[in-house]
Amino acid sequence: MTTWPVHGRIDGAIVMIGFGSIGKGTLPLIERHFKFDRKRFVVIDPDDSDRALLDERGIAFKQLAITKDNYREVLPPLLTAGKGQGFCVNLSVDTSSLAIMELCREIGALYIDTVVEPWAGFYFDKTLGPETRSNYALRETVLEARRRSPGGTTAVSCCGANPGMVSWFVKQALLNVAADSGVDIGQPRSREDWAKAMQAVGVKGIHIAERDTQRAKKPKPMDVFVNTWSVEGFLSEGMQPAELGWGTHEKWKPSNAGEHRTGCGAAIYLNQPGANTRVRSWCPTPGAQFGFLVTHNEAISIADYFTVRSEWGRVLYRPTCHYAYHPCNDAVLSLHEMFGRAGRMQEEHHILGEAEIADGIDELGVLLYGHKLNAYWFGSQLSVEETRRIAPYQNATGMQVTSAVLAGMVWALENPNAGIVEADEMDFHRCLEVQRPYLGPVVGRYTDWHPLVDRPGFFPEDIDERDPWQFRNILVR
Ligand SMILES: NC(=O)c1ccc[n+]([C@@H]2O[C@H](COP(=O)([O-])OP(=O)(O)OC[C@H]3O[C@@H](n4cnc5c(N)ncnc54)[C@H](O)[C@@H]3O)[C@@H](O)[C@H]2O)c1
Repeated sequence: MTTWPVHGRIDGAIVMIGFGSIGKGTLPLIERHFKFDRKRFVVIDPDDSDRALLDERGIAFKQLAITKDNYREVLPPLLTAGKGQGFCVNLSVDTSSLAIMELCREIGALYIDTVVEPWAGFYFDKTLGPETRSNYALRETVLEARRRSPGGTTAVSCCGANPGMVSWFVKQALLNVAADSGVDIGQPRSREDWAKAMQAVGVKGIHIAERDTQRAKKPKPMDVFVNTWSVEGFLSEGMQPAELGWGTHEKWKPSNAGEHRTGCGAAIYLNQPGANTRVRSWCPTPGAQFGFLVTHNEAISIADYFTVRSEWGRVLYRPTCHYAYHPCNDAVLSLHEMFGRAGRMQEEHHILGEAEIADGIDELGVLLYGHKLNAYWFGSQLSVEETRRIAPYQNATGMQVTSAVLAGMVWALENPNAGIVEADEMDFHRCLEVQRPYLGPVVGRYTDWHPLVDRPGFFPEDIDERDPWQFRNILVR
């Protein structure tokens, strides 16, 4: 594509918080797809390593960490400068998504983020306990804010690749499986319609199934954590408890599972770090593979969204939902190194820039399983080579995230009074339409694989042979 569509005008100030791998990659997409006043675009980050990219564009840079103490002072004057509606694009770590989102809504500025991030210190506070450190608890704070203040200025919560885009994939995948298996689900519109459609198709569960095959040109040195996106972000979520949306078909639960006493009730957590929890899953390129069950907002929001309740509120149906993430090989080695020393993190962190990557793709999709046609993967197979051709400053992983941020921004501009929303509640057709040019091949693949294939092997196993798609068979123990 040589001429890129302009999707809208941002008529107020743009404040981007965080200029790391995702912030840098989002910048050229904002420039490409929106009309805006460059003089009212400000980027805030305590680290000025990449400020040259902003200087050469005449975009203002504030070298500053946003904190609990300064956010109410710093952000409003920037977001309300000049005429029009401001837009806050929060792509940082260590800043409270909830606090900034609520502030933006108070002053009528649009808001988007890619994760429910807490203030610095939360993830590694040993006094909090696993339940409090869960994404379930973080998400509930956003849901509570919405209940307290329904409607109003749009704030899009958790709109990256995952959480984010994968919620749009789930809907497209469900339509595809329904059509291919001859189940008439009509045209689902409301949340209830979608949940009933998922139940009618007979989906037992959904993996966010990802394989990142991007290979670094140089092998990983010892004592360096290498990843294709935020090392800090990955470590934070990786050390949270493993969490999964808990489906109604499950007959067995791990003995270290914990349940939440309050909130939507859609998920459980395990008393072990997600990045050290392996599950059996499937992606088109590798076929069967191990993935890490790292906690993610979408595991909970998707399970919640597709829950069918009786008139009296009893849960009749819910799919299991969780992440099954095989990060790039260097990140797998980095985790192995870290957990080998009781979780003590590497001193040095490194995010692979596109120029440091020899080849590979980020194969990120959703695997809908347990229905008549067994299992169906639908997702993006974006290569680093294609990424280089279509947009600067990012690898394939980043591109899947930044293009989802772009789609979320377009949707927010087109729906400026939708209140606080999650990706599950947005128009998936529109969002995927905006994002599609950045996703490489987007494919659907059926597979005969299930977690009991080739098992048991040489040794006896604790498996449920009657139902291959039980979590008991998926979790590696
Ligand atoms: N939903 C998704 O698909 C998805 C994917 C990738 C990343 N993310 C999230 O996006 C965020 C950014 O990821 P990234 O890969 O760009 O991370 P990164 O580590 O490359 O960048 C984070 C940036 O935030 C800055 N920062 C730190 N403290 C700050 C503060 N107090 N105020 C302002 N800026 C601060 C850092 O200096 C850094 O430049 C993370 O929260 C990450 O978890 C979401």
